[in-house]
Amino acid sequence: MNGWQLDHFKRADLEPILAIEKSSFKWPWGRLSFEGELHGNSCCNFVVKSTEGQTAGQVIAYAFWRLTVDEMHILKVAVTPARRGQGIATRLLKRCLAWSVEQGAVSAHLEVRPSNVAAVELYRKLGFEVVGRRPSYYTDTREDALLMMKILKEDV
Ligand SMILES: CC(C)(COP(=O)(O)OP(=O)(O)OC[C@H]1O[C@@H](n2cnc3c(N)ncnc32)[C@H](O)[C@@H]1OP(=O)(O)O)[C@@H](O)C(=O)NCCC(=O)NCCS
Repeated sequence: MNGWQLDHFKRADLEPILAIEKSSFKWPWGRLSFEGELHGNSCCNFVVKSTEGQTAGQVIAYAFWRLTVDEMHILKVAVTPARRGQGIATRLLKRCLAWSVEQGAVSAHLEVRPSNVAAVELYRKLGFEVVGRRPSYYTDTREDALLMMKILKEDV
């Protein structure tokens, strides 16, 4: 990939991820939530690191998801603010989807806030469709969640 490479999440990535997380979400995951993703059987992740110039080695994006039998459930994706709008989330999620298909996934699911227009549009562009709505799903604001789903084929 141009200018960046994929890696799996390691403890050494925790601090930069926590910094991106704080700058990306009003209600960010805390350290314990990320530490929990280091171990669980169904926990999957990719961390994107820059390979360019002075930023080489720096974490610029990440995605976390669960893979339970043949279902992929996307929990989180974020791109560092300075690198948004460059197609990084699109390419990262395509790699997550393709990897999950290789592991046997046949469908991908997620919840998203309707107010998060960037995320909803990102998922739509990747072929996700709205298949339901969970009323007052988010306990912080009582906002509904949109349920989105994509049937996975080998050419994701
Ligand atoms: C959502 C997010 C991951 C998108 O990352 P990105 O690398 O900037 O996304 P891409 O460049 O791959 O954009 C892909 C598509 O998403 C949509 N999109 C991205 N940013 C958008 C914005 N600010 N407004 C509207 N649509 C947007 C567009 O359809 C875009 O396609 P286009 O460039 O052809 O118009 C990023 O904005 C982010 O980290 N936000 C904070 C964390 C978050 O909300 N995560 C999602 C919920 S877990």
